[in-house]
Amino acid sequence: MIFTTAALAALVASVAAKGSRTFVVLRHYGNGPLTTCRADPIISPGTASAHVHTVMGASNFGLNVTGEHLRQSECTTALPKADMSNYWFPTLYFKDPKDGKLEQVPFFYMNVYYFFEPTNDPIKAFPLGLKMVSGDAMLRTPPPGAAYGKGSNMDPSKGPITAASITCPRANFNPPSWPKDSDGSMAGIKSNQDGEGWGFPFEDCDGYASPMRADVHFPSCYNPKAGLDDYKNNMAFPSDDGHGKQDCPKGWIHTPHIFFETYWNTHGFVDRFKDLVGKESPFVFANGDATGFSVHGDFVSGWDEKALQQIIDNCDAGHAGIHTCPGLIGGVNDESKSCKIECPIKETVDGKLDKLPGNNPIKGWKYGTGGSSSSSSGNNLAVDIESAAPSPTNVVKQAVTSQAQTTTVVQTTTVQSTTTVYISAVGAKPTDAATDGKAVGDFKYAGCYKDASDRVLSGVIRANLGRVNNTACVSHCSSKGFSVAGTEYGGECYCGNELSKVEKLDDSKCSMTCEGDGADKCGGDWALSVYTKSGKVSARDVHEESHHRRHVHNHYMHHRRTPAGRLRR
Ligand SMILES: *[C@@H]1O[C@H](CO)[C@@H](O)[C@H](O)[C@H]1NC(C)=O
Ligand SMILES: *[C@@H]1O[C@H](CO)[C@@H](O)[C@H](O)[C@H]1NC(C)=O
Repeated sequence: MIFTTAALAALVASVAAKGSRTFVVLRHYGNGPLTTCRADPIISPGTASAHVHTVMGASNFGLNVTGEHLRQSECTTALPKADMSNYWFPTLYFKDPKDGKLEQVPFFYMNVYYFFEPTNDPIKAFPLGLKMVSGDAMLRTPPPGAAYGKGSNMDPSKGPITAASITCPRANFNPPSWPKDSDGSMAGIKSNQDGEGWGFPFEDCDGYASPMRADVHFPSCYNPKAGLDDYKNNMAFPSDDGHGKQDCPKGWIHTPHIFFETYWNTHGFVDRFKDLVGKESPFVFANGDATGFSVHGDFVSGWDEKALQQIIDNCDAGHAGIHTCPGLIGGVNDESKSCKIECPIKETVDGKLDKLPGNNPIKGWKYGTGGSSSSSSGNNLAVDIESAAPSPTNVVKQAVTSQAQTTTVVQTTTVQSTTTVYISAVGAKPTDAATDGKAVGDFKYAGCYKDASDRVLSGVIRANLGRVNNTACVSHCSSKGFSVAGTEYGGECYCGNELSKVEKLDDSKCSMTCEGDGADKCGGDWALSVYTKSGKVSARDVHEESHHRRHVHNHYMHHRRTPAGRLRR
């Protein structure tokens, strides 16, 4: 066969060996995850899964998923519209050392890195409907191959794969986050980096704008003979060719290497576990794992293959994000909206729980390891369930639960969330707002206000601004038509038109230096530096609801973050 020079050049380009790594981060927008739900259509299709997951991505997620169905989704939490994939991982709970009750740790955000590694193979888009899993949900002992001071391994020719770990960013690493020389039997194991290890750290992750996170690398070689659904056999990690390139076995397809970075606001609980710091971890995955060794993630591809291939071949935008890739096919979602669905399994997964949804016994370290089996048979399961004495809080909780039950619907529905605002003025009256009036752009400083996991400013949640400063946040919110801007935790920007709850804090609570301006302050831990057009915060009439309703609602807003919880009253 004879090729013209141009055709040959094109052919060579399309299968060119890749000499250096490029990458681009997939970012999500909106208020929280798609859903928090005991479903896992890869491992447990058609039925409730064993544990609760936090799910991101396309709205056609459900007990069963197929690529074709995902492509029909009404919306996705991913910024690029072409990505109708789903990404999910176990939900994280805080076990209160005081009363043993479990509470969801607020999900903070998720990045998915798309790495295009140096390889002799052509890198191809994920085939539509590809299902894969990485990490091992059954582990309660360290992953084989994990050892103190050793790095992660993602090359099967070099030993067991250790691709799922935990990162604990901290102001400083003295004392270490994982006990020195731990072998994993009583505590997690430190890897070769201070901030990284296998198993939960024993220290508070107080890193700058960056609490605890799970890190899960996925394999990038797909075996078409195994097929899309055979998640146990269809993927493998590539191996080094001896010259720094990672290649797949012959006949397999080299796909992007994806990496989940999932943050939870663990630091927000530090006042409640400070007595445990340095001694044990108060966190438990939804599967009952108190060690953290079982960190894992799941992925189903719903990508428009053409759009993903265009990114692979042309985009090296790095941290700027896929939504900034030149020529991105399909465009970018409106980040002032949210994409949410209701979980098809009706149960309470948030609030103060006596046990984990699905009744998973807690295991690991001080609770007894139970080996590395998921079976609930056997040993000393310290699921300290208390039959709680009736208390005013419980009464409120029951009221809330029944309200939730009567308002949830059974089909999975797509909700473009809106900002529903009920004011309970705890603290200063709106007109008492600080008015030191420092002008930033066309807004003025209105004071430091408390934030909560349901977000008091929810028009735009964590705008994608890079390194945040007040000027950039105000101008972003203003350009989107909002009249209130708030910066938090040194590096986050929120927009809205009013605060859903007004609780004024002392300015000293808003004292974190802005990531994007060393000379200014950008809020604090659950504290917003608020800027408004008028320099005051406005609140709706607080008398529209009775005190009781308000109390219930407030509690409800705190503990249920489902769309039903938000939108119905
Ligand atoms: C979902 O998948 C399960 C297992 O493959 C199957 O038995 C069930 O019929 C499927 N349900 C639907 C609605 O497709
Ligand atoms: C604030 O951020 C913007 C956008 O990143 C940047 O251009 C500007 O220089 C920053 N301002 C200060 C005072 O650092």
